[in-house]
Amino acid sequence: MIAKDILGNPIPASQILAEPPGTRALVAGLKAEPTYLIVNEDRAIDPIAILDNCTHLGCTFPWNGLDNQFQCPCHGSRYAPDGSVVRGPAPLPLKIFHVAVVDNRIVISPWTEIDPRTGAKPWWV
Ligand code: FES
Repeated sequence: MIAKDILGNPIPASQILAEPPGTRALVAGLKAEPTYLIVNEDRAIDPIAILDNCTHLGCTFPWNGLDNQFQCPCHGSRYAPDGSVVRGPAPLPLKIFHVAVVDNRIVISPWTEIDPRTGAKPWWV
C-alpha cells in the first residue's frame, strides 16, 4: 500500500523528507487508516510507522514534541516515541507497520513479526 493524503493522492517521500527531523507526519496508510510516519534525525523516513488509533477506545491523538510523546486527548493515555505505553488507561502498545521508500513512493505493509518493543508476537496478529 502506498502512503496517501486525505484526498487519496500518493504522497512522495520527498514531501515528507522536506519536514524537519523529529516530524511525525500523518498519512493514510493500510486500509486508509491514519498512520504516523517519522522523519529520523538522519533525515530518513523511519522503517516503522505507527497507527494513530489509541489502544484504549480508539481515539486518534496528536504528537507532543515538547513531551516527546503521543498523547491521547480522550482519557489521557501517553505513548513513547516507539508507541509503547507510558501511561494508561491504554492497555497495549500502538500498532506498527513496515515502511519502505521505493522510487520516491512510501510503501506501508503489515507488521506480523515479533514486536520489537515487547519481544513477543504482536497483539494484532
Ligand atoms: S481512547 Fe485514548 S485514552 Fe481512552
